[in-house]
Amino acid sequence: MTYDFQIVPRIIFGEGALKELGVQARKFGEKVLLVVDPGILKAGLIELILEDLQKENLDVSTFSDIEPEPWVETADEAAKMAKEEKVSCIIGVGGGSAMDVAKAASILATNAGKASDYQGLDLVKNAGLAKIMVPTTAGTGSEVTFTAVLSRKEPKMKAGINSHYLFPEIAILDPSLSVPLPPKTTATTGMDALTHAIEAYTSYQASPLSDIVAREGIKLIAANLRTAVHQGKNLNARSNMLLGSLLGGIALANAGVGAVHALAYPLGGSFRIAHGVANGLLLPYVMKFNVTGCVEKCADVALLFGESGEGVREEVLAEKAISLVVKLSEDIGIPRKLSELGIDEKNFPEMADAAMKVSRPLENNPRKVSKEDAISIYRTAY
Ligand SMILES: [Fe+2]
Repeated sequence: MTYDFQIVPRIIFGEGALKELGVQARKFGEKVLLVVDPGILKAGLIELILEDLQKENLDVSTFSDIEPEPWVETADEAAKMAKEEKVSCIIGVGGGSAMDVAKAASILATNAGKASDYQGLDLVKNAGLAKIMVPTTAGTGSEVTFTAVLSRKEPKMKAGINSHYLFPEIAILDPSLSVPLPPKTTATTGMDALTHAIEAYTSYQASPLSDIVAREGIKLIAANLRTAVHQGKNLNARSNMLLGSLLGGIALANAGVGAVHALAYPLGGSFRIAHGVANGLLLPYVMKFNVTGCVEKCADVALLFGESGEGVREEVLAEKAISLVVKLSEDIGIPRKLSELGIDEKNFPEMADAAMKVSRPLENNPRKVSKEDAISIYRTAY
C-alpha cells in the first residue's frame, strides 16, 4: 500500500517548554495575535505568556472572546483583528476552541470571505499567517492537525475547515499548563484524545506509520487518564496525557477519525454538548457496533489497556476492550447515557440525518454506518 504521513514541522515538548514561545514567535516578525481561551485570562497564565513575549519585544494583541464549540463568526472576528493589527503570527493558547479559532483566523487573514466559506475539504487557496499552538488541555490534538471545527447557527451544525494550510508551524506542549485543569475537563478532554487514538487506529485510512503513533497514544491514555483526573497535580500523569493526546492528534491527522466523531457532531452542533462529553459517551457504543469490522485491532486495544490476553480468543479480547473503555469512562465520571444529557429520543432521526452528512469520518469507519444504524446506536446509548 502507498501512504502519506504528515506532521507539523516543529514540536517542542516538556515542562517549561512555554519559555520557548517568545523566541519562536519572534522568528516570524514583530507583531503577534494571541488567541486565548478566556479561562486562561482568569487563571493568570496570561501574565506568564505576555512577559515572555514582551522579553522578545513583540507587539501583542489579544483576542479572547471565545465560547465553547465556537461559532464561525468568532473566527471571522479574530481574523479581522489579525488584519487590522497587521500581525505576522497567530498564537493559539487553550483547548480545541481557542486553537481552532486561531488556526481558522490565520487563513482568513490571507483569504477573502468568511470562515463559513471554507468549511469543507481543501477550499483554502492561500497559505495563512504563521501559527504557533500551545495546548492547555490533553485532548483535541488540534496543535498538530489541519482542521478547525466551527459551529454554524443556520443550519445548526458543526463543520471543519480542512486544509494543509491549517497545519501549525510550531506546537509547544508544556504539561505544567494542564495541571490547573479541573477533574471534569481533564476527563472529557482525555476521552476525546482516547477516541482520536482508537478511531485513527481502526480507521480504513490507517497506515503502518499512523498505527505506531495511535497504539502508543492508546497505551499512554489508558495508563494515565485516571491519575490525571483524580490527582491533577501529578505531573508525570499530566505529561503522559499530553503526549498521548499529541499522538492521538498526529494519528487522526493522518488516518482520520470515525463514526464516534460523526455521531457526536450533532450533539455539539444542535445541543451544544461539549465535544469530549459527546465522544466519551458514544465511544463504547460505536466500538460495540464496529467490532465485527475490526476484531483484530479491537483485541489489540485490550492489550494496550494492559490485559495479558494469554490464551484468550480474539473475539473475547475485542469485547473486553469495550468493557475496559466503559470502566475507564465510569471511573472518571463520563455520562453513560444520552438521556442524562437531556436529549429526547424523538430527536434521533434528525440527529442521524446530520451525522450522515459528516461523510469523511463515516468513510473511514471500519464498518459501514447507515442512517438506521446511527439511530440504533443513539437508541442503545439512550
Ligand atoms: Fe475530537
